[in-house]
Amino acid sequence: MSTAAPRHYGRISRYLHWGMAVAFAWQFATTGARQLVSESALDELLWATHKPMGVLLMLLVMIRIIWALLDRANRPSEINRMATLGHLSLYLLMFAVPALALLRQYGSGRAFSPLGIPLMPGFEGDEIEWMTSLGSLLHGFLGWTLLVLVIGHIVMTVWHRRTGDHDVMERMLVK
Ligand code: HEM
Ligand code: HEM
Repeated sequence: MSTAAPRHYGRISRYLHWGMAVAFAWQFATTGARQLVSESALDELLWATHKPMGVLLMLLVMIRIIWALLDRANRPSEINRMATLGHLSLYLLMFAVPALALLRQYGSGRAFSPLGIPLMPGFEGDEIEWMTSLGSLLHGFLGWTLLVLVIGHIVMTVWHRRTGDHDVMERMLVK
């Protein structure tokens, strides 16, 4: 039996990767419009989807983390330390960014039902200050940090393909 590392990511990993890449592109379009054309019709249209899309991404990243752990023996090995570090940072931020927003949402005490699904019932009384402050301090900042990291990630994969040292793109494309 061969013990060589697999040459491709499996089907579920690929679907999660590309499906979430599209969802993240949408999510960053909502924040981009908010920054660039604030209070325009486009901003209002896109921003209305920011919270529900963020909740969907939270769900998907939890599935992806569990899957990455279960599937770790069936993945191509990382090409170097930087790639490992980069991928780990992406995972960390993909989780922390929506988690911080949800923490803030909970702490605000307001009921929250994205797409009509009653996720948080809300509560009477004062908001939970540490939750709202932490979310407000870090959610947007780490969200933009994630965008910078994603751009770096894309540049690196294109770079590796161009220079031909490691064609990592092949690993993430359909077999
Ligand atoms: C992975 C998913 C998410 C990403 C990448 C993301 C990204 C961002 C970014 C970059 C900003 C800053 C926008 C600006 O500077 O104008 C922002 C703001 C905001 N996000 Fe998210 N977000 C996500 C999920 C969520 C979720 C789940 C919620 C709510 C439940 C949420 C609620 C908000 C709110 C209310 C703001 C405006 C206040 C602030 O800047 O903190 N986001 N988001
Ligand atoms: C056009 C957009 C993108 C391209 C071309 C791309 C390309 C790739 C490629 C080629 C790999 C395999 C790298 C290797 O094995 O060394 C990979 C892995 C990975 N990518 Fe992307 N990517 C994109 C968007 C994203 C986005 C938006 C995220 C997250 C926010 C992301 C997160 C990851 C992670 C965490 C891995 C490690 C494998 C895994 O656990 O799924 N990628 N990407």
